[in-house]
Amino acid sequence: MPEILGRFELVDKLATGGMGDVYLAKQWGDGGFVRQVVVKRLHPHLSERPAQLDDFRNEAQLLGLLTHPGIPHIIDFRFEQGRWYIAMEHVRGPTLGAVRRAEQSIGRVMPWKAAIGVTLQLCDILGYVHERRDDLSDEPLGIVHGDLSPENVILGRDGQVRLLDFGIAGDVEHRQRQREREKGIRGTLGYIAPEAISKDQPVDQRADVFVLGVLLYEMTTGQRLFPGDGLNYVNAVLQREPVAPSEHRRDYPADLEAVLLRTLARDVDARPAGTRELRRALEDVARAHELPTSGRVVSDYAETLFPAREDRLLQPSVRPDSLETRELPAVPLETDPNLLSPEERAEVLADLRDLMLPDMEELDPDELASIPPRAAPPPPPSPTEEPPSETKTRVRRPPGESEAGAQPGFYIHVADED
Ligand SMILES: Nc1ncnc2c1ncn2[C@@H]1O[C@H](COP(=O)(O)OP(=O)(O)OP(=O)(O)O)[C@@H](O)[C@H]1O
Ligand SMILES: [Mg+2]
Repeated sequence: MPEILGRFELVDKLATGGMGDVYLAKQWGDGGFVRQVVVKRLHPHLSERPAQLDDFRNEAQLLGLLTHPGIPHIIDFRFEQGRWYIAMEHVRGPTLGAVRRAEQSIGRVMPWKAAIGVTLQLCDILGYVHERRDDLSDEPLGIVHGDLSPENVILGRDGQVRLLDFGIAGDVEHRQRQREREKGIRGTLGYIAPEAISKDQPVDQRADVFVLGVLLYEMTTGQRLFPGDGLNYVNAVLQREPVAPSEHRRDYPADLEAVLLRTLARDVDARPAGTRELRRALEDVARAHELPTSGRVVSDYAETLFPAREDRLLQPSVRPDSLETRELPAVPLETDPNLLSPEERAEVLADLRDLMLPDMEELDPDELASIPPRAAPPPPPSPTEEPPSETKTRVRRPPGESEAGAQPGFYIHVADED
């Protein structure tokens, strides 16, 4: 039996993370309204911990604040049956992580155009997040995502890349609180900027820019930036230079390599100053190599690995009894008074037949035969009558119809192009 949380029916578990479980769910409304959504529910033991609850509430608040096509919109943040949860838009499409694993299993690397297309869209989304200002004071909020990783990016079926998981994201104030109370490193190992590892170094939006570089490196080389997990990654990102992309692939474009290595600079000041600068540099590369990078390029590529018809979708079902929703009133629908009478319908059909041209699709022959003849055609125009002076017109008439025998009802006047 699927669990019920308020008006949400949790149908299928998508993922289990540090903070909670993520479900594919149904949102039920009144009158039989239903749609597919995602519910992220905090682990029960964490709702007792103020710090984690603060992070979860912060994630919901950020989703509410950030309205961008590349960020799933939040539906609600609620406490029900003893559990805190976020309900949000369900995004169809594979995660970048799933795409990378599929590529690895068949030994291929993402095409340049798709990799740059994904990165350009992430630049846009993160640019919006980074530049978001407080609505009232208009002061920049200084939001950093802090957990950009392949599992937190979806290549949407609609061509729009989405950025998920604002679990550790926050404005300057929230991040300060987090840093004070957390002992360990936050984020996903393998996708953390060097400055975010050391507690004493300030972290700003260029940490997200670094990780954009990590994703681009992996998409275009098919290799991890620094192989190994845990401490290996931490030591490498703090001390080592990345292997140049052209060492993985001889055909790696020099201009793309230059942009990428700059983005991966350990020295924060040597990186592009923000997503706008990175975006411009990548656009130059795409232009120089005549690479199309639209959303369509990205979703078409995702489709080759994960056909949409295989998406996990919820089947139609009956509304669970335990949901208190209102049904539509059971009143028989009355005959629409605006429907045509048989005479009016015959008139409309006669008009249709008169307007039919040889290149138009034929009406059903039986239906045509049933059309009664027109009552009385309007009188023909007087021979002296001039066509309207302001537009030159050309008259189209059914084939075989001579000008003399023509009737006005059979004409369509089309303004001449020349
Ligand atoms: N709105 C959504 N639409 C479709 N799939 C989603 C959506 N939100 C999450 N998912 C799927 O669930 C996975 C986990 O979601 P998310 O990253 O938000 O949680 P998490 O990593 O478990 O969180 P945390 O790191 O805070 O514990 C994602 O990688 C993605 O596959
Ligand atoms: Mg995640």
